[in-house]
Amino acid sequence: MKVHLQTYGCQMNKLDTMLVSNALKDAGFNLTDSVKNSDVVLINTCSVREHAEQRVFSHLGHLKHIKRTRPNIVVGVIGCMAQRLGAELLRNGAVDLVCGPAQIPRIVELLKKTLQTRQKSLAVTEDIRQRNFEEQDLSIERFESTYGIEDKQLAGQAFVRAMRGCNNFCTYCVVPYVRGPEVCRPPESIIQQIKRLADRGVKQVTLLGQTINSYKYKAGEKIYSLADLLWMAGDIEGIEWIKFITSYPCEQFFDDILQAMADSTKVCNYLHLPAQSGSDRILRAMNRHYTANRYLELIDRARDTVPDIAIAGDFIVGFPGETDKDFAATKELVRKAKYRNCFIFKYSPRPGTKADKQFPDDVPYELKQKRNIELLRLQEKISEELNKAFLSRQIRVLVEGLSKKPHTGASGYGGHSQLVGRTATEHIVVFNGPLSLAGEFVNVRITQTSPLTLFGLYEGRQA
Ligand code: 5AD
Ligand code: SF4
Repeated sequence: MKVHLQTYGCQMNKLDTMLVSNALKDAGFNLTDSVKNSDVVLINTCSVREHAEQRVFSHLGHLKHIKRTRPNIVVGVIGCMAQRLGAELLRNGAVDLVCGPAQIPRIVELLKKTLQTRQKSLAVTEDIRQRNFEEQDLSIERFESTYGIEDKQLAGQAFVRAMRGCNNFCTYCVVPYVRGPEVCRPPESIIQQIKRLADRGVKQVTLLGQTINSYKYKAGEKIYSLADLLWMAGDIEGIEWIKFITSYPCEQFFDDILQAMADSTKVCNYLHLPAQSGSDRILRAMNRHYTANRYLELIDRARDTVPDIAIAGDFIVGFPGETDKDFAATKELVRKAKYRNCFIFKYSPRPGTKADKQFPDDVPYELKQKRNIELLRLQEKISEELNKAFLSRQIRVLVEGLSKKPHTGASGYGGHSQLVGRTATEHIVVFNGPLSLAGEFVNVRITQTSPLTLFGLYEGRQA
């Protein structure tokens, strides 16, 4: 049986896909990278914006067409859309199996059943916000620790979940409804998993959580925080770089985490700290618990403790009621924050969220688009200036592999291929070198910069 797995959405989803693919392999399924050769197509989906869902629907349309000539092919939808739409998705002509994120430990069993009986099956969690899911949590934990130890996506790197779900209820966000309440994984499971990954050659781990800085786990008298996890992970032999995403702008453990960054050579100086808006009025309507000034204070503190910290931000433009004045406040915040980069999204109303129920989506699409472009341009100028500081410096890069799109900037290295890697601060670096460097730390001398990329010359491997 050949399974083709596809992933939409964030790092969490990529991680779930990896768990599912390892579980399927363990159960004797083979993975294939094309729909053409497959008996089963599983799509891991994202619900964070409407566009992500539309892409899945159009893909399902394509699969429905394929099913006319290959009626035996089984199509499964897993992940956030599965949880959000449940039975509605099963009514789609292409779909045979629907499995929410909290039900993925059952994926092998469900798939086998669907293949045997050829009947549609649905596995989503009723009342996902309701607690008392201890058994479900246990089974997810078992699944995660069993299958989360092999990640072949990028050589030398792995993602490890520290927490699931979210309790924040930002008014625009669907995550708390599809991924359920916040659950922190036990520190020993996380650390054991990282040890096993390190044994398999992993050098960089990225800890994942929707609000990773609020990671908290009580074991007896001790309360473990993210800073504790960072220190423990840093003690593991073979682990060189530790990153964590995404942080929520709040006081909780903030200073301890920054101190770990400053004091540990392993903890990378990179902080993803979404602001979402620079207007206090909009932040309140978003149910974000800070003002623009508070946010900037946190950033100042971060820079005091870790002077070369690189900070990334997320923004939503065109939130309901966003005026030119609100948008001007966002631009002001972006100017002051001096981000290394920003992820900018156009507001997309999500069914079931408070913003969708309470506020009309009243900013026209064209205006959202205009603000999106304007903010991107502003950030581009800032990134361009900041990146110039790297010129002629030698920096340490963890090599990912072949650069996907050809860049003109990379200067030659004996006719070798163009490689791409990242620095500890998540800067993307393109240079020429042998592909055997994938998964290795190397030194690169920066010779040219652009807003999004640094280009340079390979100057040798690092121990
Ligand atoms: N519309 C647009 N962007 C959104 N995000 C989350 N929900 C929405 C939405 N409804 C953005 C936020 C978040 C990122 C992952 O996606 O900026 O930080
Ligand atoms: Fe969504 Fe807010 Fe939770 Fe992030 S913190 S996942 S934006 S509800």
